[in-house]
Amino acid sequence: MKRISLTQHLIEEQRLYNTIPASLRLLIEVVARACKTISHSVGKGALGDVLGSANSENVQGEVQKKLDVISNEILLQANEWGGHLAAMASEEMETIHPIPNRYPMGEYMLLFDPLDGSSNIDVNVSIGTIFSVLKAPEGMVTPTEKDFLQPGTMQVAAGYAVYGPQTMLVLTTGNGVQCFTLDREMGSWVMTQRDIQIPAETKEFAINSSNARHWHPPVKRYIDEMLAGRTGPRGKDFNMRWIASMVADVHRILNRGGIFMYPADLREPDKAGKLRLMYEANPMAFIVEQAGGTATNGQKRIMEIQPEKLHQRVPVFLGSKSEVERVTSYHAA
Ligand code: AHG
Ligand code: MN
Ligand code: MN
Repeated sequence: MKRISLTQHLIEEQRLYNTIPASLRLLIEVVARACKTISHSVGKGALGDVLGSANSENVQGEVQKKLDVISNEILLQANEWGGHLAAMASEEMETIHPIPNRYPMGEYMLLFDPLDGSSNIDVNVSIGTIFSVLKAPEGMVTPTEKDFLQPGTMQVAAGYAVYGPQTMLVLTTGNGVQCFTLDREMGSWVMTQRDIQIPAETKEFAINSSNARHWHPPVKRYIDEMLAGRTGPRGKDFNMRWIASMVADVHRILNRGGIFMYPADLREPDKAGKLRLMYEANPMAFIVEQAGGTATNGQKRIMEIQPEKLHQRVPVFLGSKSEVERVTSYHAA
């Protein structure tokens, strides 16, 4: 089989669609290289002394794992010097990280969840990295947090790396979704899936059902109908999966179909769910839509939400179109 590298793919996509100028290609390649480094650390585990807690908290009050901090540092260092970025933002940093003065400033802005699925780090279950790329607003001189507050429709690229039995990179620049597998011996990303399409019909759903008692009525109705199985209103049996790494759950859905949900609930009524809009929900929504799926917050398209804060949270329903449309329609009922 002919091997297509990430670089070759990016160059060919630029020739076809004119959507990946050299500076964006550099950005994607640098992020992909950083993910290789993270993958290497993840793979070392206890042998690399990367497991366990970092004894610190991030801005959302979550205890940071060593790998959260290490991955954040790897992404920052890799992306600082290339001249392709104006600033970065991350789940693990309270505010934005402008590019230091000693380096030239570029036209893109990068957001990331350096390590997604932190609760799975110490138990050797798949985890990942999620990233989203925006353009700096016209005429921006000194980047501020406000410059990042663009709706997901403005993303020029989004992707994730999943560190599982294989390390994979799933990427969109707005012309479909491609998947690359890391060839560990060669150190290169090789395309292994082109134009991934989420199966429209599904019998699988993903939700943390330990929160069932806190769910709002539309979510409860939707799940109850699926649980009722063949003799219920849906007329078929469903299966449930919950990995607790959004990256791994989304990766399964891209390949096999299904719906992933992290709704807002009554536990903390002021909290709009758990997941963060700008570096978790938006990039995943972009990928899912590019693969023929849908992503809403229960009311509207996630990518059309105007962000108000860098670390804002959002309810998430994404995956196979018909299922996401159904649970979204229950919210309107
Ligand atoms: P992170 O590790 O970046 O904080 O994200 C974890 C997220 C997401 O990946 C996952 O789907 C969800 O949290 C799991 O939440 P529960 O622990 O409530 O199952
Ligand atoms: Mn996450
Ligand atoms: Mn994280």
